[in-house]
Amino acid sequence: MSDKNSKFKPFLGSRVLITGHTGFKGSWLSLWLSELGAQVYGLSIDIPTNPSHFASARLHERVEDSRIDIRNLEAVKAHIKKVKPEYIFHLAAQPLVIKAYNDPVTTWQTNTMGTINMLESLRSIDYKCVAVFITSDKCYENSEWVWGYRETDRIWGRDPYSASKGSAELAISSYVKSFFPQDGPVRIGVGRAGNVIGGGDWSENRIIPDCIRAISNNKLVKIRNPNSTRPWQHVLEPLSGYLELALNLNSNNKLHGEAFNFATLQSSNHTVSQLLQSMSYYWSNVKWAESTVTKELPHESQLLSLNCDKAMALMQWRSIWDFETTLKNTVHWYRSYFENPESDMQSISLSNINDYVVASNLSEL
Ligand SMILES: NC(=O)c1ccc[n+]([C@@H]2O[C@H](COP(=O)([O-])OP(=O)(O)OC[C@H]3O[C@@H](n4cnc5c(N)ncnc54)[C@H](O)[C@@H]3O)[C@@H](O)[C@H]2O)c1
Repeated sequence: MSDKNSKFKPFLGSRVLITGHTGFKGSWLSLWLSELGAQVYGLSIDIPTNPSHFASARLHERVEDSRIDIRNLEAVKAHIKKVKPEYIFHLAAQPLVIKAYNDPVTTWQTNTMGTINMLESLRSIDYKCVAVFITSDKCYENSEWVWGYRETDRIWGRDPYSASKGSAELAISSYVKSFFPQDGPVRIGVGRAGNVIGGGDWSENRIIPDCIRAISNNKLVKIRNPNSTRPWQHVLEPLSGYLELALNLNSNNKLHGEAFNFATLQSSNHTVSQLLQSMSYYWSNVKWAESTVTKELPHESQLLSLNCDKAMALMQWRSIWDFETTLKNTVHWYRSYFENPESDMQSISLSNINDYVVASNLSEL
């Protein structure tokens, strides 16, 4: 795979720290970077789900795996001092909107204070180090309009999850301006992306894992908001953006402190019910019903998309997989998992990465 991954060659042999490496996005990023020949060090509090992509893709074979609480500043500092990473991707978070309503304190501590602990730990680094902080599309003030948000739009957050990520953004911006000069050793960037899908996500209250659990148990799936429109994006799309951002920061200090949106094509915007219809086509009929307790549900944004012109203009990053390719690859991963217990899920995930890289190279021709 390495020749097709040539634009990411600089990661070969580099020391990379990924927080949240046991989670959905972090485990895919760990796999990709280890395949690129990086030495990957992971920092997470636990494996958040069972089953998990981390376990099924046997990431423990490829990653130096540490259990550390991001809320513990001294432990985070000591770990960074020990690992001496050249690149850091900060993904550790409590990422679920509904869970944040149920436990706002843990969500704020993890997402906002966890980010501050990372920033504070970076202050003692005196060698060149690039850190990419992963926040969310939900950090923008949501006007429920059809246009994509731009990086210059207002940072806000109505619900506890969104506000915890918006606050993380303010902390990053403040630390950059106060403690990390452009000509200093530490370069910081921010990646904002929306809901992602892909094989191996088992989180609660996310549409694909909920459907997969229902299909595999022949049960009815309760849908909260069938008419919500989302830019369904494969997990590899924002990850390619984070990798691109890290390398661009490494070579260009003018990008220090900048945030970038990484979203899918506008044509990938579909409603939840359209997603369910397509899933039925690729696997089996998804039996679903609208949740009858809709009125009692906490507020969630209905319309949310991002404008990616900045990533395209400054880094030539673009979205590669359309809605159907994204869904086909996602469903194929879960079908392999359920239909053949002998399936080597690490190989299947690697072949997803390989296909994505090939498609991305073709789109550049
Ligand atoms: N999955 C999405 O659709 C999506 C969308 C937008 C943004 N994001 C952001 O991307 C990042 C990764 O999301 P995900 O879906 O992979 O989440 P996930 O729940 O699958 O993984 C979360 C990771 O964070 C770690 N973690 C949680 N609390 C911790 C703590 N106190 N100390 C150390 N580690 C801790 C977990 O162990 C796990 O490794 C998050 O920052 C999330 O907000 C995700």
